[in-house]
Amino acid sequence: MKGVAAAAIQLVFTLFLYGIGIFIIGLAIYPGAGLCMFLWRAGVGYALHVRLLMLCLGVSAAYFIYGICLIFLVGAVRVVFRLSLKEGEYPMQSPGALKWALVNSLVLLVSNTFMDFILLTPFITIFYRLMGAKVGRNVQINSKYCADLSLLEIADEAVIGGHATVICHSFERGRLILKKVKIGRRAVVGLNSVILPGTEIGEHAIIAAGAVLGKNTNVEPRSVYCGVPAIPAKDRRD
Ligand SMILES: CC(C)(COP(=O)(O)OP(=O)(O)OC[C@H]1O[C@@H](n2cnc3c(N)ncnc32)[C@H](O)[C@@H]1OP(=O)(O)O)[C@@H](O)C(=O)NCCC(=O)NCCS
Repeated sequence: MKGVAAAAIQLVFTLFLYGIGIFIIGLAIYPGAGLCMFLWRAGVGYALHVRLLMLCLGVSAAYFIYGICLIFLVGAVRVVFRLSLKEGEYPMQSPGALKWALVNSLVLLVSNTFMDFILLTPFITIFYRLMGAKVGRNVQINSKYCADLSLLEIADEAVIGGHATVICHSFERGRLILKKVKIGRRAVVGLNSVILPGTEIGEHAIIAAGAVLGKNTNVEPRSVYCGVPAIPAKDRRD
């Protein structure tokens, strides 16, 4: 009986998230759709293939307009409704766990439809900040696989490499654990690496490509961590 109730809550919550997605995506599409309508009407009197070309250019411009609008809309929802995550442990289907699902679903709207186009641009920094991340100056983010952004701190001039996964949550034994991840000044999170919750990476440290840092790892400043699970490079040679 408990399982049926849990499945029902999950289904209702999923439909609620779809509803929010429809609303936000629809709003973000609206300005670009308006541009397409304008161009189609402005083309009256031109040959049909010219009107079609104008419409095609309008549609592609509309996609980028959609993406930029989406970033700010999702960010505005996070700010207005104060959807910041707090460190702690939450039972499944508790209000804390549902809030976590809601916040990450908002991020997925961006990462699944547009984020590839804002990697390594100022827009991804703006988006992360709007979602509550603390992001320093000249930070380069080349991955869309960062979650729980309000628990993420990235200091000045740090680099997050392509496809790196940085998450501040872990489901374990029926509980959701949320813990901050801090990335120090000028640290490099290598491409395809995995950074788990509670990790602190000291300044100038390098996490090797493909390394997996276990939960709560404390990476000393200027060190190099390699492998799975990641250990300091000097220990590999001992
Ligand atoms: C770990 C890293 C910093 C080592 O570079 P380096 O200091 O020039 O050292 P080397 O390439 O000479 O390798 C030193 C040792 O680390 C090992 N190593 C290098 N890269 C490794 C990796 N990704 N995983 C596991 N071991 C690695 C080497 O096999 C070597 O081992 P050995 O001493 O037993 O022979 C580099 O390989 C790396 O992964 N950098 C991350 C780059 C990145 O992803 N940047 C962000 C995106 S651009």
